[in-house]
Amino acid sequence: MFDPEVYQRRRDGLRQKLEGDRGLVLLPGNGESPVNYEDNAYPFRQDSTFLYYFGLDQPDLAAVLDLDSGAATLFGDDPTVEQIVWTGEVPRLADRGAAVGVSDIKPRGALGDVVSAATSAGRNVHYLPPYRADIILLLARLLNMAPDQVRDRTSIELVRAVVDQRARKGPEEIAEMESAVEVSVAMHQAALELAAPGVTELQIAAEVERIAREAGGRLAYPAIATINGQTLHNHSYHSNLSDGDVFLLDTGAETATGYAADLTSSFPASPRFTDRQRAVYQVLLDAYDAAVAAIAPGVRYRDVHLECSRVIFDGLSGLGLTRGDTDEAVAAGAHALFFPHGLGHMIGLDVHDMENLGEDLVGYAGEQRSTQFGLRSLRLARALESGFTLTVEPGIYFIPQLIDDWKGRGHCAEFIDYDELQHWRDFGGMRNEEDFLVTDDGARRLGPRKPQTIQELERG
Ligand code: GLY
Ligand code: MN
Ligand code: MN
Repeated sequence: MFDPEVYQRRRDGLRQKLEGDRGLVLLPGNGESPVNYEDNAYPFRQDSTFLYYFGLDQPDLAAVLDLDSGAATLFGDDPTVEQIVWTGEVPRLADRGAAVGVSDIKPRGALGDVVSAATSAGRNVHYLPPYRADIILLLARLLNMAPDQVRDRTSIELVRAVVDQRARKGPEEIAEMESAVEVSVAMHQAALELAAPGVTELQIAAEVERIAREAGGRLAYPAIATINGQTLHNHSYHSNLSDGDVFLLDTGAETATGYAADLTSSFPASPRFTDRQRAVYQVLLDAYDAAVAAIAPGVRYRDVHLECSRVIFDGLSGLGLTRGDTDEAVAAGAHALFFPHGLGHMIGLDVHDMENLGEDLVGYAGEQRSTQFGLRSLRLARALESGFTLTVEPGIYFIPQLIDDWKGRGHCAEFIDYDELQHWRDFGGMRNEEDFLVTDDGARRLGPRKPQTIQELERG
């Protein structure tokens, strides 16, 4: 948790952005989420926007910010003695509120009256798009509407104001993210040391999670730890590493305060890459370096993505896999056969920061989203601003089903040598990913650098 002034400043900033509106901002915190019965819950994760403005990491809280008076109220209940028998002593709500600069504490049951009083007086009640069923039901009850109306009535003004604030990271947030990266680099380093033929994906996945937990946080998202990196969201850990495999590890830690890191490494299961793997990895690194070099305030991330795509296309031309004019090929989306996802996304209190607030409002800020395969998966396209934090994560993949589909349709056949590609269809996939802060004149890597050159990844 940060100093109370940090939360007060953020709340004041939000109120300023919504100036002229005399309504309420309603921010429900998350509750526990049961796995197979009520008392056996998933690890608790607070809502990130609630954390941003109110910092408290306990379930069953809610907060209201009165845009007229500026008052912030925290709603919740202190545990009964009977509950304390099971949970042990927990800090009193008044003390928890004081720690985040809130002195007005009300019982949870008072939330309904406060919201009803506002709506009866014709005041707006702004809330963000809910993503959990219990919060949808809560909002439906508080605002007297059917559950399926709740999402449609979310406040776009509030979403825009929150996105605007959360997108520009403060120094206290950057420090947290750097420590998340530091733990994550240790996770990747450990995996590199552990990897060898005969080791299982599960062993590596378990070890990286252990390191994240031991550091006092947890994984920011389920780890991808696989010899089948061509499957983009591969969450199975059932294979053994074998000589000749490329192992792809996409994992990052979340700090105890909720800030995420998101790193990907790709390295050989055996000490050395094959010649072919080394050549493709070099193309990947060239594309990665070109992307990092292009980041600066005012630059559209869509253009960084396209520049990176051109380097991938050119590099694969050098390997005989693609051909023709690079600009025309990238405009046609030919590179997406090998690079079908986006270059990156914002990162912060969520690994895909604020994705629950709407990807287009966060990453496009009114710009048109492409419908082209590949480019449409780009989560961040807007012009960058100093203080944004984002991932850079190009990949090169050989996805047999996609190759067969494109080849069968003759798609982009003028740009792709499908005959040569037949000899590469079992290559697998590679990605490299780190996290950056947009600075006044470029970009700065968050936290320490992980091993990622060929020399650093080849062991002996
Ligand atoms: N770890 C998910 C991603 O890279 O976006
Ligand atoms: Mn990522
Ligand atoms: Mn990742």
